Amino acid sequence: MLTNLINEKKARVGVIGLGYVGLPLVIEFGRAGFSVTGFDIDQSKVTQLTQGKSYIRHIPEDAIRQLVEGGRFTATTDFSGIRDTDCLLICVPTPLTKNREPDMKYVADTARAMAPHLKKGQLISLESTTYPGTTREVLIPLLEKGSGLKADADFFVAYSPEREDPNNPDFNTRTIPKVVGADSPEGREAALALYDQVVEQTVPVSDTPTAEATKLMENIFRAVNIALVNELKVIFDRMGIDVWEVIRAASTKPFGYMPFYPGPGLGGHCIPIDPFYLTWKAREFGVTTRFIELAGEVNWQMPEYVVQRLMWMLNKHGIALAKSRLLILGMAYKKDVDDYRESPSLRIMEILKESGAEVDFHDPYVPRMGPSREYPQFAGMESVDIATIPDYDAVLILTNHSVFDYNTIVESARLVLDTRNACGDIQSDKITKA
Ligand SMILES: NC(=O)c1ccc[n+]([C@@H]2O[C@H](COP(=O)([O-])OP(=O)(O)OC[C@H]3O[C@@H](n4cnc5c(N)ncnc54)[C@H](O)[C@@H]3O)[C@@H](O)[C@H]2O)c1
Repeated sequence: MLTNLINEKKARVGVIGLGYVGLPLVIEFGRAGFSVTGFDIDQSKVTQLTQGKSYIRHIPEDAIRQLVEGGRFTATTDFSGIRDTDCLLICVPTPLTKNREPDMKYVADTARAMAPHLKKGQLISLESTTYPGTTREVLIPLLEKGSGLKADADFFVAYSPEREDPNNPDFNTRTIPKVVGADSPEGREAALALYDQVVEQTVPVSDTPTAEATKLMENIFRAVNIALVNELKVIFDRMGIDVWEVIRAASTKPFGYMPFYPGPGLGGHCIPIDPFYLTWKAREFGVTTRFIELAGEVNWQMPEYVVQRLMWMLNKHGIALAKSRLLILGMAYKKDVDDYRESPSLRIMEILKESGAEVDFHDPYVPRMGPSREYPQFAGMESVDIATIPDYDAVLILTNHSVFDYNTIVESARLVLDTRNACGDIQSDKITKA
């Protein structure tokens, strides 16, 4: 019955967690003709979305406004509306705790808040990135306990990892193939029917742990390869070889090689965090994840390496780090986005300030830093005018936003530390690569 409702686009879709992952799903299901309700605990996001406003830079406001005005999208903090939905997608955060262990608080809170409002025949799909076993061991028991219903008898459960790459012009929610795992044939059928409405290709796998493991494998692959290229960068720098030129040349090999790029460290909500979900779970099975630990170690050291290169550059000009005035260009963790969660710029700014340097930042997409658990000291800091570049001893390019005019930056700066090869085509002895 649920599958028929879905195929006729009469199923009502609920998205829980209206962030970087949840909002694109809202838009896709809305565009496909479904009526969508968004649930979030953050009243300010709900208020903005209800007014048809996007609070994320690269998520188009038009799309949200059209859905709101067309009556196909409402947002709420009231979870009792769960009862009026047929399919629910959970897209809440899965960070690490202070001790770098999986923080299941958001998934568990969501399950507890949903459970009293569940009804028979619903499909619940978890999209948050997590360790294999989460759906079976955390989500289902809480849903069953709070609802008195039985999973895969009264309601269906699936796990379908999100592969969103914010602001990637080549791929979007619709064109990225979607892996779908479920622990019952009925759950899999319903989940595939649902996702087939909005993505070009669904990839069924045999159960929820396989789908959970697939997502972790993808992100561990990235973390390990980024660590490898970061290590090679440090080695090649010492040898006087330009790692960027090496990557460009190696990339001409048509098979068996895939380019990864070095940088000032790992950032974002996924790659620095997700691999450690597996590390934690592997301990239960008496297994250590040596590749993941090593990659983490190399990647975590990159901000320190950037600071070492900076000190070397400043020393050459007789400037002590403790007495320097520095401008960071780019707080976001990658180019052209406004997301600075886990950004290496934060750690680098912390080290520099602790060393006594005077540090400001400029980022057109981060006008003001908000509160964060790890860097509360930066809350309220504001992006300075880019025209102030000549006032600083050095500029550190930590994020290569496309809007930056690198020629002008190099011309107006006294010294430039480039961690992204953003000035790769510019000849100037002011530039030091890091
Ligand atoms: N951002 C990405 O590029 C990306 C890509 C792939 C996978 N993921 C994964 O997707 C998940 C969500 O990430 P995100 O980047 O969208 O996070 P986000 O912080 O942008 O959004 C999460 C939303 O969930 C809300 N929320 C928190 N607790 C809630 C609760 N109990 N009930 C309802 N809403 C709640 C928050 O207020 C927030 O709006 C994570 O597991 C992440 O690892 C993210």
